[in-house]
Amino acid sequence: MKNSVANAIPKIGVEQALESMSDAFVLLDPEFRVAYVNSATERSVGRPAAEMIGRTHWELWPSSVGTDLERFYRSAMQTGRPASFQHHYVGDGFDHWFDIHAYPSDVGLAVYYTDITDRKQGPVEKERIERAYKAALSNTPDLVYVFDLDHRFIYANEALLTMWGRTSADSLGKNCLELGYPDWHAAMHDREIDQVIATKTPIRGEVPFIGTSGRRMYEYIFVPVLDDAGEVESIAGTTRDITERLQAEEALRRSEKLATAGRLAASISHEINNPLESVTNLLYLIECDESLPLEIRSYLELAQTELSRVSHIATQNLRFYRQGSKPTMENIQTLLSSLWTLYERRFRISQVSFAQRFFDVEPVRVFAGELRQVVANLVGNALDALDPGGCIALRQRISTTLRPGHRSLIITVADNGTGMSEETLKRIFEPFFSTKTATGTGLGLWVSKEIIEKQGGTLRVRSTQQSPYRGTTFMIILPEANAE
Ligand SMILES: Nc1ncnc2c1ncn2[C@@H]1O[C@H](COP(=O)(O)OP(=O)(O)OP(=O)(O)O)[C@@H](O)[C@H]1O
Ligand SMILES: [Mg+2]
Repeated sequence: MKNSVANAIPKIGVEQALESMSDAFVLLDPEFRVAYVNSATERSVGRPAAEMIGRTHWELWPSSVGTDLERFYRSAMQTGRPASFQHHYVGDGFDHWFDIHAYPSDVGLAVYYTDITDRKQGPVEKERIERAYKAALSNTPDLVYVFDLDHRFIYANEALLTMWGRTSADSLGKNCLELGYPDWHAAMHDREIDQVIATKTPIRGEVPFIGTSGRRMYEYIFVPVLDDAGEVESIAGTTRDITERLQAEEALRRSEKLATAGRLAASISHEINNPLESVTNLLYLIECDESLPLEIRSYLELAQTELSRVSHIATQNLRFYRQGSKPTMENIQTLLSSLWTLYERRFRISQVSFAQRFFDVEPVRVFAGELRQVVANLVGNALDALDPGGCIALRQRISTTLRPGHRSLIITVADNGTGMSEETLKRIFEPFFSTKTATGTGLGLWVSKEIIEKQGGTLRVRSTQQSPYRGTTFMIILPEANAE
């Protein structure tokens, strides 16, 4: 039987033709035994023809039993009518789509298999990958987009649409300018896109942009997308919001700068403090000389004033770094009332009134010297800001709720003086920042803040130049010091 079927194939050229086919060809006898397979079948099945010939289709490929394929084969064999169908062959080591043509004759069934897996699965697979890309791109916080060669957006992910506050329908097909980017910004991207097209290399940049969430800083990269011929067909871009990162870096730079300034200031004050004391003493000795001419004496006074200014700068820093003393239990009212004596003369001259209220008078453990220095700085600043007739209010209380189980001292120093502009307010805690060109060292608040923060507290400020609330309020929140 086997031979008779094989003999049924016209010898001349037909076998060669079947052998050269890239499609698999199988000849089955009426009992569905394999009578002939071409080499494409051997390749696709991974077995030599000799292993297959003489065995039934069903024992060779049991997964096909009970499927459409079996039904089609049997019906073709029975009716003598050819069958053409597509079949997804899964099992027996296969996962392939075939276009199958079965031609019955009295010697059996001639079957051609065309592998259409790529055609069948291609689009499905592509759609699957596309869905995965879409899900990833829609959910990333980064902005992802694609420009065509005419600089128009042909893709924008959700994050970018949200930042624009637009739908894809009203943004795709437009360039930056048409999407409302400032002229300089659109022109910059135009140049960059041209450069990416010309050089076929990526380009990076940083740029501020005002979108739906305000002014933010962005870092971006444009990369060329090449076609099969190696030509740029589009430009893909990703942009990341780096506002927070830049702010953190800036804060770090600032604090490093402050720490360096602090160390420098401390070492300078330490170095100049001793010679300073000697000069002060010497000037005092010279002053004691009754025979000094008047003119010299006036120079001497000038020298003393200038020297006391230098002395103020030096001690301001030195005291700050000298916080070696132990904290002590203090009655805050007693501690701060001495300020009244310190500034009494200035209050009188400037015709400024001073109101104090101590709500909680029980003693608190504090670093007395430092605390007095801070409050003195705040009161001194308030005095400088006040016009005649103005007033300063000092208030104190103890909070037990800010930190459960601990007491915190709260002191406010408020004035109804000039108030501060936004620009001033931003910089008041910087060392050497002062608006008092002639008299200010610009160290008072910087030192005060460092002292308070070193003790785990905070120094806050509120200030306005707008009537009727014009003025400034500083608030010290200081946790009670631990007993040592
Ligand atoms: N109560 C206030 N009202 C208005 N402006 C203030 C007040 N307190 C501080 N400022 C502003 O903050 C700046 C910095 O204050 P800071 O105490 O650090 O330095 P300064 O007072 O200028 O100099 P000094 O080192 O002699 O105290 C001041 O120059 C002033 O512009
Ligand atoms: Mg000051």
